[in-house]
Amino acid sequence: MSTATDTAAPLLRVRGLTVGFPTAAGTTDVVKSLDFDLERGGALGIVGESGSGKSMTSLAIMGLLPKGATRSGSIEFDGTELTTLRERAMRAVRGDRIAMIFQDPLSSLNPYYTVGTQIAEAYRSHRKGVTRRQARTVAIEAMERVHIHDAARRVHHYPHQFSGGMRQRVMIAMMLSMEPELIIADEPTTALDVTVQAQILDLLAEIRADTGAGLILITHDLAVVSEVTDHIVVMREGDLVEQGSAERIFTDPQEEYTRMLLDAVPRIDDEIGLLRTTAAPSAEEDR
Ligand SMILES: Nc1ncnc2c1ncn2[C@@H]1O[C@H](COP(=O)(O)OP(=O)(O)OP(=O)(O)O)[C@@H](O)[C@H]1O
Ligand SMILES: [Mg+2]
Repeated sequence: MSTATDTAAPLLRVRGLTVGFPTAAGTTDVVKSLDFDLERGGALGIVGESGSGKSMTSLAIMGLLPKGATRSGSIEFDGTELTTLRERAMRAVRGDRIAMIFQDPLSSLNPYYTVGTQIAEAYRSHRKGVTRRQARTVAIEAMERVHIHDAARRVHHYPHQFSGGMRQRVMIAMMLSMEPELIIADEPTTALDVTVQAQILDLLAEIRADTGAGLILITHDLAVVSEVTDHIVVMREGDLVEQGSAERIFTDPQEEYTRMLLDAVPRIDDEIGLLRTTAAPSAEEDR
């Protein structure tokens, strides 16, 4: 096990990652010996149709697989092997150094508490000795950073008082207040309409550029990953179909399956011209 931080090593190195579920006939693998790296400051897209194992891959990294699931292989984060960490040490990594955002922000927020309280309490649970007042200030600042206007007033509102896109911003604010080194976003825009999707993607790209955090963006939609990622992993039924730079995957897909996913993206020829492999978002939208 390595202890020293090797700055030349990738932020995340996944090798032979396999996730299985027990069935009557033995174990069924839903992620099959996956290998990929996420460079420091890089943005990786994981793409594939429903059931291809994208969420199980991210949950395996977070140590949050459903009960009964088995995991093997290696997940090295900043030089630390995560698969052998004790739960207590893993809890210190999760949320604090690696944060995750999900498709449905409503199910991650508690309807009975104001968003300000939820951001502040999440922050306090990870930072010892922080007062309520300090945490409240952090919550307002985090909401301002995700461009929620009038944050000092909005912290007192409940989740149902926000639109879907604004709730996703609240979740991103909560995650941001922890200053994570790696952000895993699992279909963060799927539940949102197209214009709001674009705003959230711009926000993720902006955060990545501002904080230098690594990003893993999971989606079934290749158009979405083209917006913000520089390396793409294509999955199907737990297998790695192919991986490469976002530009290469778009211009020169090697596998029929990737081509099929590309064909599902409307007017992809227009998209290629807009490929943004470095984050240069316009933060001024949706004001
Ligand atoms: N608790 C479970 N028990 C058994 N099998 C499961 C369980 N959870 C997920 N699976 C199976 O694991 C496979 C991969 O699921 P996963 O959620 O990773 O897919 P996905 O690529 O994220 O799909 P989607 O795009 O629909 O979110 C699927 O075939 C699914 O049925
Ligand atoms: Mg999923």
